[in-house]
Amino acid sequence: MKVNLINIMKVVMINGSTRGSKGNTQILLETVARALKEKQIDSEIVTLADKKLNPCKGCAACAGKNRCIQDDDINAIYQKMVEADGIVLGSPTYFGNVTSRIQMLVERTGYIARGNGNPFKGKVGAPVAVARRAGTTFVYAALNYFFGIAEMPIATSSYWNMAIGREPGAVSKDDEGIKTMTTLGENMADLLLKLHA
Ligand SMILES: Cc1cc2nc3c(=O)[nH]c(=O)nc-3n(C[C@H](O)[C@H](O)[C@H](O)COP(=O)(O)O)c2cc1C
Repeated sequence: MKVNLINIMKVVMINGSTRGSKGNTQILLETVARALKEKQIDSEIVTLADKKLNPCKGCAACAGKNRCIQDDDINAIYQKMVEADGIVLGSPTYFGNVTSRIQMLVERTGYIARGNGNPFKGKVGAPVAVARRAGTTFVYAALNYFFGIAEMPIATSSYWNMAIGREPGAVSKDDEGIKTMTTLGENMADLLLKLHA
């Protein structure tokens, strides 16, 4: 039986905002999701705001175990990332950098992956950043470090994947930012389809 890979591909998106599903990062990720769906690629947005998260302890107990010994929500999210074909990391700018929540996610899942043969290798990655005014280029770059050490091809857009907005919902008025996210979703889908052809 021929399995149609196109219909079963999935992207997991991590929303590192403390505003969760009510914030601007969510709007950007939902825009990427719509563009992916147009090309028959499923996605799921995982909100970190309501999750129990801790920083990495650097104990290396995850090596060879494919899970962290800490009793919080990271192992479940890590599993979703392992099972996905693509990973989008979305973060607002907090004091010129990523949020502490997305940084915890990066440290924890990145460390588990490195100690376990890197199951992220070959998945398509993309960063998404938002700010009131400044710092998105730094966030964009910081999130790309995750993909760059995990042997993940990175999807790009017609501009760097970032948008401007302060209050929840304000990012919807940034036409160029929204267009950038749509193009990102289209390009990520095209890259996934080519890699899995
Ligand atoms: C603690 C904190 C720090 C922030 N630091 C910055 C910053 O350095 N630069 C900036 O332009 N906006 C900054 N902002 C504004 C947020 O990036 C902006 O409101 C963004 O839209 C929030 O995204 P969200 O709705 O997905 O949470 C900060 C907001 C908070 C709460």
